Amino acid sequence: MKLTVNGEPRELEGAWGGESLLYALRERLGLPGSKNACEQGECGSCSVYLDGTLVCSCLVLAAQAEGREVVTVEGLAPAGGLHPIQQAFVDAGAVQCGFCTPGLVVASHDLLARDPRPSEAEIREALAGNICRCTGYAKIIDAVQLAAERLAP
Ligand code: FES
Ligand code: FES
Repeated sequence: MKLTVNGEPRELEGAWGGESLLYALRERLGLPGSKNACEQGECGSCSVYLDGTLVCSCLVLAAQAEGREVVTVEGLAPAGGLHPIQQAFVDAGAVQCGFCTPGLVVASHDLLARDPRPSEAEIREALAGNICRCTGYAKIIDAVQLAAERLAP
């Protein structure tokens, strides 16, 4: 199976079409940024873009990604650096264990691309599919607001 991942053509050698895109990204392509927390579409830790749409990669079959374009959290940041949303999460103290963070960063990226100045309610709604067991969410909201301030034109 062939697909594009973070702008590069990649091949899933030996992959079973029924395995999840999350498994393929992590175990076959060496991209561990997308996390496997529930494998049931409940937690958002595996969030990636598939042809520009935010999806839970644990719910997408590897075969469904054939010929399509995937962007993972690794693809958002410049080489060796942090994306401004990642930096905002760090600066706002929104990272504790960090397991939820990649999914939240991708979901926040999707939100801010659609709405550069979201209200708190809009942030909460956009991130409702992303579960964090550590932070209590307040600092995550702060981080998205901080990122919005820094990124807004
Ligand atoms: S691991 Fe995919 S939603 Fe939880
Ligand atoms: S920081 Fe631990 S789950 Fe969110």
